[in-house]
Amino acid sequence: MGERILDLLTAARARLRAAPHTPPAREANLLLGHVLGWPEARILAHDDEAVGAEQAAAFTALVERRLQGEPVAYLTGEREFFGRSFAVDSRVLIPRPETEHLIEAAMAQTLPPRAWILDVGTGSGCIAVTLALELTGTRVVATDASLGALAVAWHNVRRFGVDDRVLLTRTDWLSGTRTRSIDLVVANPPYITQADAATLSPEITDFEPHEALFSGTDGLTSYRQLFAALASLRSGTPVLCEVGHTQASAVADLAHERGFVHHRTIDDYAGFSRVVVVIRG
Ligand SMILES: C[S@@+](CC[C@H](N)C(=O)[O-])C[C@H]1O[C@@H](n2cnc3c(N)ncnc32)[C@H](O)[C@@H]1O
Repeated sequence: MGERILDLLTAARARLRAAPHTPPAREANLLLGHVLGWPEARILAHDDEAVGAEQAAAFTALVERRLQGEPVAYLTGEREFFGRSFAVDSRVLIPRPETEHLIEAAMAQTLPPRAWILDVGTGSGCIAVTLALELTGTRVVATDASLGALAVAWHNVRRFGVDDRVLLTRTDWLSGTRTRSIDLVVANPPYITQADAATLSPEITDFEPHEALFSGTDGLTSYRQLFAALASLRSGTPVLCEVGHTQASAVADLAHERGFVHHRTIDDYAGFSRVVVVIRG
């Protein structure tokens, strides 16, 4: 005799609501769906059914971890990005919806046939894989300093069948990459200041990789290193960077110091600057 889905969900939702960081009660459906291998709609449509004791215990264990602040994406191992489900674990930043603006900006570029795109700091590979799928015929070089991140990215590259068009390479930013063949650069580098760490939720600071989040005392160290490393790009090559919402003009200035021309800044739906587009002069 197992436990009824509705009873399990009701208890879990109440506990999630009462937690200090109040995760949305809907996360109970996602966690039980993960344990049962069911989509959320099936959970809701069949909540009068019973599940086995082992599955109920596995669900309760996940709820406990969630109550300790572990992000739901790490518990289910999945996060949706640009309409596709990417594998994630604690070795990579959880893809954020705001990064979809970077994808849209890249898709708006005019590129030569079979263009080469460079994705610097690929993490889960969400940008590299999405661009390879959305921009037919393009090839992507995706770099990261973290071997763990590259392992997750490789999993996603294989999952989406783009291993013939996405090359993963472990480098410090892009050393060793032949940047003269690159037609477009995209980057979502770490950009949070150490001082802002205290203002972030423990769900982020206690669980996501710090090398994916923080970038020196002013949050701009990674952009400085990035623009220095991009010195040998061909003239006219666009570089699209995600930025923190107060950083757009500082990033454009840093690019200018390295011989790039500011082309435009793109806002997110809330009106915050989100993507800076510069062109190699
Ligand atoms: C903000 S995360 C972005 C991950 C992914 N591109 C995304 O948008 O979800 C930044 C990534 O840069 C990588 N990184 C940090 N320092 C690096 C360096 N010196 N060289 C290459 N990659 C670096 C981190 O490991 C992390 O995966």
